[in-house]
Amino acid sequence: MGIRNLDDLSQLKGRRVLVRVDYNVPLKGDKVDPHADAKLRASLPTIRYLASRKAKVVLVSHLGRPEGWDRRLSLAPIVGRLEKLLRRKVLFIRDDITIGHEAEKFLTGLKAGQVAMLENIRFYPGEKKNDRFFSRRLASFGDLYVDDAFADAHRKHASNVGITHYLKSYAGRLMESEIHNLDRLLRRPVGPFVVLMGGAKVSTKLPTLKKLLKVADEILVGGGLANSFIRASGLSVGQSVVSRSEMIAARKLIKNRKIILPCDLLAASSVSGAAKVRVSDIDDVRSNEYVPDIGPRTVRDFAARLKRAQTIVWNGPMGVFEIDQFSHGTIALGRVVAARASGRAFGVVGGGETITALELTGMAHHVDFISTGGGAMLEYLTGKTLPGIAPLLD
Ligand code: 3PG
Repeated sequence: MGIRNLDDLSQLKGRRVLVRVDYNVPLKGDKVDPHADAKLRASLPTIRYLASRKAKVVLVSHLGRPEGWDRRLSLAPIVGRLEKLLRRKVLFIRDDITIGHEAEKFLTGLKAGQVAMLENIRFYPGEKKNDRFFSRRLASFGDLYVDDAFADAHRKHASNVGITHYLKSYAGRLMESEIHNLDRLLRRPVGPFVVLMGGAKVSTKLPTLKKLLKVADEILVGGGLANSFIRASGLSVGQSVVSRSEMIAARKLIKNRKIILPCDLLAASSVSGAAKVRVSDIDDVRSNEYVPDIGPRTVRDFAARLKRAQTIVWNGPMGVFEIDQFSHGTIALGRVVAARASGRAFGVVGGGETITALELTGMAHHVDFISTGGGAMLEYLTGKTLPGIAPLLD
């Protein structure tokens, strides 16, 4: 597929380049968790390339799912971490870009080779609505547009789709590498093709899972995603939250024989390191318990299936792996995925949390490709042209 990229750009000196990045990473207090900054590191080649050619780089990102301006989701901590990684100053533009002229003045004063970042783009209601006026306003801050936010490419928002109507658009280095590597998998998904899926964001994942059933041989489901299926089959997950709409969506898929659910779980008195924990059969979770991990029999069953696979895709942890006593399922299967990928299978792992978990195994280097996209990677693998990628195609 022909995609316009940074090599198609000449004369960058002094030009303002709006770069859409995805810095949606977990924060620990008011800092970026240093174990979870893979998305920031992955964006460095594009920023360095543009800055070294004396462009004025203006970064645009979202963080979380804010409803309006929310200080807790400011990009300020990201700026701090990015400065360390880039080893250069990043000017942070906190002003609302839709009112007044503060941001404009600031950006006019930007010097060639400098890097600046706007505040969380999802603070603006026009972003998620892909609003025409907001897209045009955002575009007025750049002369060119570069999209390096593969992880956001499944969204149709102003900063990755609307803006492309007003500025000539190019793929950044990360975007290019994601497309190149995932295309390899799409071209030759040698069977058995096994997908390991877990984590939260269930409302996004269930429709994707349905499409993946067409290309995969088995989908092993754990984590928050499994809870929706367990509830859909009429069983309890105690205090773990499953919304009614997720349960209804899971109910439509549950009969599909390619979907493999856990056969046992960990049941805990709370989701904390101090919790009392027991192994529970899938139909024996008590109403006052939580389900923070899959159980040991499930680990063995999923591991056996992964060991037979020739193509593996993993997205989403199997439980609350940030807490030691609930990390076993995720880490054990992460090791199997990496070990298998180091041998005969082609293994792809994607998604912010999943990359963090994979890095905890110490075996990340065995995996064939690590994608920064979670939902975006899974949707891409269903064969769909993502809305954020379509405008970059020649
Ligand atoms: C991600 O982390 O998967 C992307 O940043 C997209 O985030 P979203 O699911 O909130 O749109």
